[in-house]
Formats: sequence, C-alpha cells, structure tokens
Amino acid sequence: MVITFRNIEEAIMPHLTHPGQNLVHILFNLTPFNVCGPKLSSSTQKYHVKENGVVPSVYAHTYEMVLAGIKVLSLFLEDGKPCSKNDARILSIVFHDAWKYGPRGTYPHTLRNHEKQMADIFEGHKSIIRPYFETEEDYETFIVMIRYHSGRWSSDIPKHTKLTFDWNNWPSDILFIHMLDMLSTRDCFSFLNL
Ligand SMILES: [Fe+2]
Repeated sequence: MVITFRNIEEAIMPHLTHPGQNLVHILFNLTPFNVCGPKLSSSTQKYHVKENGVVPSVYAHTYEMVLAGIKVLSLFLEDGKPCSKNDARILSIVFHDAWKYGPRGTYPHTLRNHEKQMADIFEGHKSIIRPYFETEEDYETFIVMIRYHSGRWSSDIPKHTKLTFDWNNWPSDILFIHMLDMLSTRDCFSFLNL
C-alpha cells in the first residue's frame, strides 16, 4: 500500500478540533512535505528497515506513528472529544519529519537537524499558527514536540539545558512522540500491515 498525505489526513481529521482541521493545510504549505513525504525515511537505508527488508517512506513512517499515537491518546482523553492540546500532539507527529530532506525536500540525504529547522520555521510563523491553538501552552507543546522528537539525539539540546534527557525527567509529550518514532524504526507497528 502506497501511503500519501491523503491517508494521513483521513486518519487525523476526525480527531482534530475545527481549528486544528483548518491548521493542517496551513502547516502543510509551510513545509516541503509533498516532495519529501514519498522519499525513504532513512536515506542510507540503515534504519527504519522492516522485517521484510523494506524501508518505508516518510509518509508511511508518519502514518504508522499517527495511527498508533491516536490510539494511545484516545486512551487518555477524558471525554473522547478532540481538544486543542491533542491537536498539538497529533499535528506535531504529522509534521515532525516534514523537513527531513531540507527546505525543498530535495537533499540527497536526511538532514541531521531537521527537527530544529522545522520547529524554527513554525516558530517563525507563530502569528499565523498560534491563533489555531486555544492556549500559548498548547502552541508551545506543538513546537517542543517537533524540536525534541529525536530525544537525546535532538540537535537543539545544548542550547536548552533545562532538558537533561534522562529517563525520569523527560516531559511526557516529548517522550510520547520520541517513543512512537523509535517504535516505528524498530518495526513495532508491523501489525498495522501497511
Ligand atoms: Fe520520525
């Protein structure tokens, strides 16, 4: 099954608030996701290798994380209704790797600090993005989940020394996206049969 952004959209829309649904296309247009999404999630094919030897595309990797992430979030939603905080979580999963092949999505290899660059771009457009979240904290959640989704390998850590990445003090939202990312690279979502 070839995964496209359409699959990701169909999976997330029922779980987003109305502002969150409107934000999806604004974010998409700020990224080169349409170019990098069909590319391999590991340019060297050393990582993200599935049991069947296939390396999924960035879209397929993202789709796996979205499906698994939404399932986990639904366990913790108090009333089962979409909320701004979960918009932040879901949309950070969707766009965490959208800058993986650089600003036009055309670099031959994946960009080491893609998570910092993606977060910086979205922060640079705060005046557009922020109104779609209910609170400043929700907007910040969206940004930091992207910025630190690589956990202790995140390229922006030295400048933000408050986050010392030992298991006990990781902010839960960052731990959440990082774990989904790692589980996807270790072929833990093969039951999804993509
Ligand atoms: Fe990822």
